[in-house]
Amino acid sequence: MQKSFTTLLLVLLLFSCQEKKKENTVAAETVMSDYYTETYRPQFHFTPEEKWMNDPNGMVYHKGVYHLFYQYYPEDIVWGPMHWGHATSKDLVHWEHKPIALFPDEHGLIFSGSAVVDFSNTSGFGTIDNPPLVAIFTYHLMDGEKAGRKDFQTQGIAYSLDNGDTWVKYEGNPVIGNDGIKDFRDPKVFWDDENNQWIMSLVAGDHLQLWGSGDLKKWTKLSEFGKDKGAHGGVWECPDLFPLKVEGSDEEKWVLLISINPGAPNGGSGTQYFIGDFDGEKFTTDQTQIKWLDWGTDNYAGVTYNVLPKDYYGDTYENDPKQDRIFIGWMSNWAYARDTPTEKWRSAMTVPRKLTLQKVGNDYTLFIYPVENLETIIDRKDKKDITLNGGAKEVITFDGLNQAEVKFKTSSKNFQLKLSNDLNDEVGLTMIEEDQFFLDRTNSGKVKFQKDFANNQGMPVENLPIGEYEVRILIDRSSIEVFINKGQYVMTAQLFPNENYTDFTVDNIGSSAIDLNDFQISEIEGVW
Ligand code: FRU
Repeated sequence: MQKSFTTLLLVLLLFSCQEKKKENTVAAETVMSDYYTETYRPQFHFTPEEKWMNDPNGMVYHKGVYHLFYQYYPEDIVWGPMHWGHATSKDLVHWEHKPIALFPDEHGLIFSGSAVVDFSNTSGFGTIDNPPLVAIFTYHLMDGEKAGRKDFQTQGIAYSLDNGDTWVKYEGNPVIGNDGIKDFRDPKVFWDDENNQWIMSLVAGDHLQLWGSGDLKKWTKLSEFGKDKGAHGGVWECPDLFPLKVEGSDEEKWVLLISINPGAPNGGSGTQYFIGDFDGEKFTTDQTQIKWLDWGTDNYAGVTYNVLPKDYYGDTYENDPKQDRIFIGWMSNWAYARDTPTEKWRSAMTVPRKLTLQKVGNDYTLFIYPVENLETIIDRKDKKDITLNGGAKEVITFDGLNQAEVKFKTSSKNFQLKLSNDLNDEVGLTMIEEDQFFLDRTNSGKVKFQKDFANNQGMPVENLPIGEYEVRILIDRSSIEVFINKGQYVMTAQLFPNENYTDFTVDNIGSSAIDLNDFQISEIEGVW
């Protein structure tokens, strides 16, 4: 009796264990298969799990961790009261979602801004051994705006002593008040080693202001720049000022990024840049031409990771970016950002891109190219050389084209590339001899959700090398990023095909033969 009871118990236990296992397996499978698989969900770009996102914020590296904060509205998939969402990464490719970092308070909503490692503990929020992360952001007081006042944007700070997990707002906020400038926002702060001070770039409607501080709490206005420089088709937003070595020389120049909305070359929001000098107080440039960071319609409000003093971490961390300038932009455009056809979340970030400064002829040019780590998820296969006679074309069918990289080298300026599917959705990429490149998404799929979305975007591509140059294209379900000559010219655009693109066509639109060498289409692994 005793024995059979024990056996029965054992059998029951075994049965229930197996049921549990089954349950777990099913649960795990369900989670796995649903996670990040919605239509248009980018597979190797950063998106929030759900709800609305815009600008990248607080991009800072500390102790092996890349932080990405972002403008976030956790209640809806359209813009609303802004918080700072938060994610971290070790390699800038795989991301871990973190709880919301900053919530609105009595001073207002939390608009865009930056974060620094206060490594000498100038703020006194931490210690030298455990330096605080300090976030510097804009407060936007909705009530003030509604009441028709002009002083509703001020600057505040918060700090974290646990590498970004929890944040404390400074009780002396706001640290910069407002004398009546309606658009007064987006502080980007960096440590100016030469002059031993914190420098803040801040935009004020149609110009940049530079502010200085010794402790991140008390700020003094140093100078203004830009009322009579650059593009002014819209409000200036999201500035970023940083030094870069000119490649192949010892020369150092300062780069100023300014996002502008509207007024971009292909409509709506875009980012211009200036190359000049900074003397600890003023930014100056003799640049007369307007320079655009990205000619596509979907790269806005982008800024760079703060760089720490040379050798700050020594060799402690393998993923230390050292002096690299890494940029991330918001892959959308205020013209239609609220209307794009996704349901659970809205909008993505660009892939992280490294910025370098090169002299092309006599001109300083910013080159923008995906970070090297992206290689770790690109499944490279064989390359081939394609030769096409005048008027000839080749169609390559590739089922995974919606999540892929296409790359080749050519010296031709007479070709059209096409991504298409069986429903005749197509995206055209055309290079013509008159030094122009076009990205045509007029018939790319769903385009009617807003009147400005269906367009043929143009980009002048002057001063490309006479010989071979590279064309590299990244496609990720609802976006395309085109890098010409390793990032001398860049176009980023959103796309919403009615079904996956599966055919890649190369078309010689000239009359003499062309070569596309080392042509390669590669699948890119998902990171979620
Ligand atoms: C840029 C921007 C910023 C502002 C934020 C608000 O896209 O308009 O100027 O701080 O978005 O979400």
